[in-house]
Amino acid sequence: MTTRDFDLIIYGASSFVGQIMTRYLAEHIGFSGTVKWAIAGRSSSKLNELRASLGEVAANLPIIIADADDANALAKLCQSTRVIATTVGPYALYGEQMVKACAENGTDYCDLCGEAYWIKRMIVKYADAAEQTGARIVSCCGFDSIPSDLGVHFLQQQGHQRFGKYFTAIKLAVNKMKGGASGGTLASMIEAVKAAKSDPKLRREMNNPYILCPEKIDLRRPQVSIKGPKFDNDFQCWSAPFIMEAINARVVLRSNMLLNMAYGDEFLYREQMMTGKGLSGRISAIALTAGLGLFALSVIINPLRSLMQRFVLPKPGEGPSPEAQLAGHFDVSLLGKNGDGETLKVRVTGDRDPGYGCTAKMLAQASLCLAFDVTKEDCKGGFWTPATAMGDQLTDRLIQHAGMTFTVD
Ligand SMILES: NC(=O)c1ccc[n+]([C@@H]2O[C@H](COP(=O)([O-])OP(=O)(O)OC[C@H]3O[C@@H](n4cnc5c(N)ncnc54)[C@H](OP(=O)(O)O)[C@@H]3O)[C@@H](O)[C@H]2O)c1
Repeated sequence: MTTRDFDLIIYGASSFVGQIMTRYLAEHIGFSGTVKWAIAGRSSSKLNELRASLGEVAANLPIIIADADDANALAKLCQSTRVIATTVGPYALYGEQMVKACAENGTDYCDLCGEAYWIKRMIVKYADAAEQTGARIVSCCGFDSIPSDLGVHFLQQQGHQRFGKYFTAIKLAVNKMKGGASGGTLASMIEAVKAAKSDPKLRREMNNPYILCPEKIDLRRPQVSIKGPKFDNDFQCWSAPFIMEAINARVVLRSNMLLNMAYGDEFLYREQMMTGKGLSGRISAIALTAGLGLFALSVIINPLRSLMQRFVLPKPGEGPSPEAQLAGHFDVSLLGKNGDGETLKVRVTGDRDPGYGCTAKMLAQASLCLAFDVTKEDCKGGFWTPATAMGDQLTDRLIQHAGMTFTVD
């Protein structure tokens, strides 16, 4: 363990999700000094306001100011802590200097990025530096993609214990999901669409399910996504496309690659939203598919996008109310099949709205897990996924401290 001033700094603590994470850490680890942590960002007034909202007990919580474009300030920030958890996004706009600073200074890093094309770019540019300094860089530590990545890890372990082999095909079904979207998340989606529209080469790259495996470019096994309403015989239920598959599946495929293709070169993974049985399930699947199509169109077509941003969508810094976060939850099932046709199903659930209440707890626990559970011998420097960097240790933390469950069905 290096001697640095802090174990953990939340960078972007005044973001919508950063504030929830800061409050969670204030309750969960407090200010006794057992865990040395600080909050950081670009705005002194917002960070002071956030600290004041935590009460007198937080009066000594350190605040550090650093703009995402200020390479010197970010390098100093990274030299002062063992782990950075950053919510400063869209990452494609504001994230690169922080990844660079962490990779060059041997500082572990977690984020909530869902922008696969940007993560790939960071792997290509900074993997060598991270390997040399020992920095563990772990993106996608929120609802995308921890339930998917750790859900697959859990299912594969259970399957291996029972059948002596890993599953070669896994399907994730979203049974229930209640929660809203924040301005920051929508800004990231819009940024990705704009990037794809302006660059056909990037668009093709984004469609590659193995975009996050640039180290192994011979991966070609086609992956099959659901494009519209479909009756699923395994779950005996109607299903529709699940928007987060675009990042989650890519993270799961990277995990398989980092495990030296332990689940097989032919490993198949897909995600879908379950809409129920019978006619009502079918109608819901059609409605959901149509709704997703309309949303995609409104983001792609510029005048519509501007109107939506101005009048309909939440702005950066806005998101679901505290009541909506409390009332939210998620429940997903993962079904695995191996080469002999043997199957097993597991469930992963969370007790708050997936994108914010749950995501803030996942990012906090992932950062603490890197800081305290996973030694540099267990996991060396480089670009990892949540499952390959933290696996069981993070699953245990999420069960014990973050209201999540992982069970065999
Ligand atoms: N993976 C998941 O499940 C998941 C869930 C939720 C969110 N997300 C992602 O997490 C990120 C944050 O979401 P959010 O809704 O919390 O966003 P948000 O409220 O819009 O916050 C964005 C943050 O970026 C900061 N920022 C912007 N430009 C900066 C600069 N030049 N220097 C330093 N800081 C800068 C803002 O600072 P100020 O506070 O000073 O304005 C703010 O703290 C987004 O990228 C979103 O896509 C992912």
